[in-house]
Amino acid sequence: WAIYAPYVKAINSLKAERNAVILGHNYMTPEIFHGVSDFVGDSLQLAIKATEVDADVIVQCGVHFMAETSKILSPEKTVLMPDMEAGCSLAESITAEGVDEMRRRYPGAPVVSYVNTTAEVKAASDICCTSSNAAQIVAAQESHTVIMTPDQYLAQNVAKDVPQKNVVWWEGSCIVHEQYSPQDLRDFREWNPGTRLIAHPECPPDVVAEADFSGSTSGILKYVTEEKPEKALLITECSMASNIADSLPEVEFVGPCNMCPYMKKITLEKVLWVLHTMDNQVEVDPTVAAKARLSVQRMIDLSR
Ligand code: 13P
Ligand code: SF4
Repeated sequence: WAIYAPYVKAINSLKAERNAVILGHNYMTPEIFHGVSDFVGDSLQLAIKATEVDADVIVQCGVHFMAETSKILSPEKTVLMPDMEAGCSLAESITAEGVDEMRRRYPGAPVVSYVNTTAEVKAASDICCTSSNAAQIVAAQESHTVIMTPDQYLAQNVAKDVPQKNVVWWEGSCIVHEQYSPQDLRDFREWNPGTRLIAHPECPPDVVAEADFSGSTSGILKYVTEEKPEKALLITECSMASNIADSLPEVEFVGPCNMCPYMKKITLEKVLWVLHTMDNQVEVDPTVAAKARLSVQRMIDLSR
């Protein structure tokens, strides 16, 4: 921690000067998560927080779609990204034209888009979802057929949880979670008996089926906090376990894990740099933002 201390001090003093808050996703490295974030959480919690914080500036410590979501919900605030290249394989897998194509394939079916999408895709959709409310949002649609974009695995996991709906999907995937196989989990159980396996729903359904629990990053935290298993393997991004391990000393978090190269682009140095320069301001075309806001707000209203 000593090497981070000067950065943390400088960031905290600039935060006060700029009336800024830092929203940190659960996949940030511990020095960002614990050291400088004012609020931490999953995609849904951060989106809601963006509407509530009383600040002139939001520094989004997460990936680009999260910063866009904050800007869509709080257009009057300045939203800064420590690194504009922090993308997401899911957000990159579909454009608004892809949404139109799905509408042509399934006429009349509503489009539920994961928040891991660009503002244009959100604007072309009917409603958004996150991994913590996807099943609830799909179940709430009137139509029997529901289009989910762009995560094929989240959609397949939701389809199992909401069997009354005909869920159809776009073929996108998360480069971090698609790497796990059910055999990995079976091998791990054999080598480490008694370990609780906890998977994010961006994992393929046969991986989720091998796990003891599946949930969003906040769902994972809630599960481990309540259950306090002796040993836990989080089938998700590496920083998740690092960030919660200190507050749960009774749980032994074991590896392996996968890193998200996009999330890992966010560093303390870059946070300090954008607060100093006010560079990397995230802008969303107002017409697109207005439409995208409807999709995100419908999701927030249904999740409360
Ligand atoms: P959560 O909404 O569960 O935090 O997930 C976001 C994400 O990008 C997971 O890969
Ligand atoms: Fe996107 Fe996967 Fe990284 Fe999450 S972990 S930001 S879904 S690439």
